[in-house]
Parts: sequence; C-alpha cells; structure tokens
Amino acid sequence: MSETESARWVRAAARTDLDLEGCRVVHLNGHTLALFAHNGVVHAVDNRCPHMGFPLSRGTVGDCILTCHWHHARFDLRSGGTFDPWADDVRAFPVEIRGDEIWVDLAPRRDPLEHQRERLREGLEREIPLVLAKAAIALTEGGVDPAQPFREGLEFGVHHRRGGWGQGLTIHACMMNLIPHLDPEERPRAVYHGLSAVARDSAGMAPRFGLRPLPGGSASPESLERWLRRFVEVRDAEGAERCIVTAVRAGADAASVAAMLFAAATDHRYIQTGHVLDFINKAMEALDWAGWDAAESALSSLATGLAHAERMEESSAWRHPVDLVDILERAFEQLPAALATGSRRRDRAEAESRRGAARESLVEVLLGDDPRAIAEGLLAELREGCTPAELAGIVAGAAALRIARFHTSNEFGDWDRALHTFTFANAVHQGLRRTDSPALVRGVFDAAMSVYLDRFLNIPAAALPEPAADADPEWLLRELPLILDRQQQVNEAGALAASFLDSGGDPARLRAALGAMLLREDRDFHTIQAVEAAFRQQGLAGDSASGRVALIAAARYLAGHAPTVRAQAQTFQIARRLHRGDHLFEGD
Ligand code: FES
Repeated sequence: MSETESARWVRAAARTDLDLEGCRVVHLNGHTLALFAHNGVVHAVDNRCPHMGFPLSRGTVGDCILTCHWHHARFDLRSGGTFDPWADDVRAFPVEIRGDEIWVDLAPRRDPLEHQRERLREGLEREIPLVLAKAAIALTEGGVDPAQPFREGLEFGVHHRRGGWGQGLTIHACMMNLIPHLDPEERPRAVYHGLSAVARDSAGMAPRFGLRPLPGGSASPESLERWLRRFVEVRDAEGAERCIVTAVRAGADAASVAAMLFAAATDHRYIQTGHVLDFINKAMEALDWAGWDAAESALSSLATGLAHAERMEESSAWRHPVDLVDILERAFEQLPAALATGSRRRDRAEAESRRGAARESLVEVLLGDDPRAIAEGLLAELREGCTPAELAGIVAGAAALRIARFHTSNEFGDWDRALHTFTFANAVHQGLRRTDSPALVRGVFDAAMSVYLDRFLNIPAAALPEPAADADPEWLLRELPLILDRQQQVNEAGALAASFLDSGGDPARLRAALGAMLLREDRDFHTIQAVEAAFRQQGLAGDSASGRVALIAAARYLAGHAPTVRAQAQTFQIARRLHRGDHLFEGD
C-alpha cells in the first residue's frame, strides 16, 4: 500500500462496539459517517441523507436497504445507490476489517462536478426542482460557467417538447440574460429558475424529432427564405422547418438566418400577440450564450410556432373601428423609398440634430390616438435618416411608458396587454440590432400600432414619479424588499426606483436589486419577460430619461405581481443550505 493510499484509509471504530450497537456515527477528517453492521457485514455511508440532510443513522435497515425516515428515500446499503431519484445516491465508503478494527477509505470516488452534471440531466428528465437547484448551485459555485448548464437545458428543451420552442425555453434565455445584472450569490438562482422552467415545460411531452436538411445543399439562401415564408403563409410547419434546418446546415451565418426568420414572422401582423417574434429573438440570444453549433435544433424548434400563430389580420381589434392592417399595408408600400432616402441623409450632421427634436415629438404621436399619424410619423423619421434600430428603440421606449404610466384602476389582466407590446417592441429592437432586414422594419410599425391600441391602459395615466434627488439610495435598496412583501405597491415601487436613480444611485445596483426580487418570487412568465426587456432597454438607453422609464416600468410590473407564494424560493433555499452543510432537520 502506497503512502498516499494509506493516508486515505482511516480507522473508524472497533468492530466489537459496532456489532453491539448495530449502527454508530463517527466523525472522520471532516466527514460524518454512519456505520452499519448488517447480516455480518460492515457498511459505511455519509450520514447526511442526500435528499434533505436527515441523519441516516436514524433510518431503518432491512434486506440491505437503508430507508431514511424523513421522506422515506431508500438506498442500497452496499453501493449507496438510491431507488428514489429525487433523493440522489448517498456516498458509500469502502470498508476493511483489520483485526478488530474497522477502517474506511475516505478518498473521493467520483468527480463532484461531473456527478452534478448527471444530476442536472436527471432533474430535467424527471422534472425535480430540488435536484436542479442543487445542481445549479454546485456547478456555478464550483466555478462552472453558467453557459454550460444553460446549454444543457437548451438542448434538452428543444428535443423534449413536441410543440417546439415555448415559454420554458424563453424563461431559460431570459434568466441567462439576467445573470450579468445579478449579484454573484443570486446567479445560481437564475440558473435554477431557467432549468426548472424548461423541465416543467417539457414534462409529460412527447419528444420532438427534428427534420433533416434538403439533400445536396444546392438551395440558395434566397430560395430558402422565399420558401420559408411561403410555407409559413400556408401554415405548413414541416416545410418551414426543413428550410430552417437546410439554411443552418448549409453554413448560413447568424444574421442571415435571423433575417429569414424575422421576415417570416412579420409577413403577418403582430402574430400571436408578439410571442413568436419574441421567441425568435430569444432563440438567437440563447445561441449567443450556447454557441452557434446548437442552432440547427434550437432554430428548427421555432417552426411550429411560426406556422400556427394567430395573425392580427384575423382579429377584430386590428380591423375595427379603424382598419390598422390597411394603414400598415399602405405604409409598407412606402418603406423601401423611405429607407433609401434615410440612408442617403443619415451621415449629415444637421440631420442628426434635427432628428433629436423630431424623436421627442414622435413619442407624443406614438402615445396618441391617430394611427395614420403614427404610421406617417414613423415613415418620416426613416426618411430623415433614423436607422431602423433607432426607430425600434423609440417605439420600445413608448411601450415602456405605457407600463410606467399604467393606472392601477385597470383590470389585473390588462398588465398582460402592456407587457405583450413591450416585449414585442423590445424583440424587434434587438432583432434590428442583429440584422438590418428591411422586412423586420414592419415589426416596428406593428409594435407602434400595438402601443396605440393599448392607449386605454393610460386613461387615466398614472403620473410618472417627480424627480426626487434628496433620498438615500442605500436606504431605498433596503426598503425595496419590504415594499414588495406587500400587495399592489405599484406606485410606491415605481417611485422608489425613480428616487434611487434621481438621487445618484447606480442603475446597476438597482437592476441587481430588482433581479433579486424577481428571483425570490415564483416564476411568472410575463413578469420575467417584463423585467428582462426593461433591463435590456435601460442598458441601451443608459442614464437618459428612457433608461429611467425602463427601470420604473420594471419596478412597477414586478410590484403588480408580488408577492407570490415563493415555493420555488423555498426549494432553492433548501438546496443552498444543504450545499453549505447547514442542518435542516431540527432534531439533528
Ligand atoms: S428522504 Fe432523507 S431527508 Fe428526505
């Protein structure tokens, strides 16, 4: 036996003592082991039940199965393997009998990070939130880049949900986007929420079998985009999917594939109240984290949603009493010329200064009640040299204002309307920062019309908080959780966010605080979307008035949907305490 090997072996107890007692707890080099004498054989296992830490020495052994007495998880006493996957295997230690002495080998037998990766997959497959929380904590606190578990969740989600990309994967991508805004101790919580959302969305679903690309690889990118749009037009999801897969396999770059997807998503008006375009944007953002080599399965999972979406041409609100679709179609006829004129003017300095003033008046038009003036105002801005991405940012700002001025006398469900418009407007904005697709510019107009349709949500309009520069930002951060412990503190939360910023508080700290408040609540798809989009908009707008509005909107939306039961936070807290070695069982 080598010196290192002998150092791993430790004397644990006298055999005669254990035979008398049947079970004994020993503390060895920082480990607490339960020794069992069963059927003439000595076994040693970690005394903490891997489920929630109950002392296994208080369990029962029968037929070489150890049963924990808290939630009755069962373990093979020899190997430590569990018969209850929600509990995890307990670590079993090799034992040697030397004369009357029991020796155990404390050397690690498995790579703890690799074990947690396996557990993560098991948690996804069986939808076990506690397992996912444990894996998220162990991996991220073990130094693993959150992009790794993120990719695991992404691949699981796109293969295990027959209906394709849905809320779970969107939450997953939102959580990954939120991570850079969060304090380090909150980041595992975001990983956990994302993975759990994917697991829940896939639970009980048939798997999705992706289509292969067209053989030969001879189809041109132009043909594939044209075919994709044609197949979406006739709601043919499989035809659409084959075009997407073929484009990716042929080596199309991210911007080109994004352009064809966004074009197909804007051939009809504001499809599926904006969700489909938002999903495309989130899929592209997910690939920014996970890597483009995951594109084929991730993007093909969007085809069903694209093909089967409800189109607002089919909705009464977009046709009566004003035919918004007709207004938009006429505006779209003028788009190529407006873009060409704007591109010629863009570099002129005087155009830049004129545009600044014009944009302020455009916001007033966007929040007004004349849809023709809105369409004309957007075209005029493009002609003056405003880039499509800039214009999309202005419309997203107007959509954020709808939330910042949402009156609490509205029905609770009306928050959703304002949210749909805002997330759609943000997705169009992010899409146009990714690709200069002229077709996607139509999405800016759709978003503007949705802002128009939401105008009743601001009648009466809640006043934006007055500038208040004499507050203590640190005190406000301590106050935020207390406010969000109470129901319907919408205006109070908005005022707090405004005071924090007006008093010189760092927006990054406010984002981190709001992110932490979001994560302590149970997952609500729309609240997650609202906060994530607001952070994105604030990040782009910086210290401007638009940035202030974005964070006011985030605080108000969050307050409108808090507090929840916080069951998911409880699960996470249990996992964190177990990871830290805290005792959960009071009698331990
Ligand atoms: S089964 Fe052992 S603590 Fe839950």
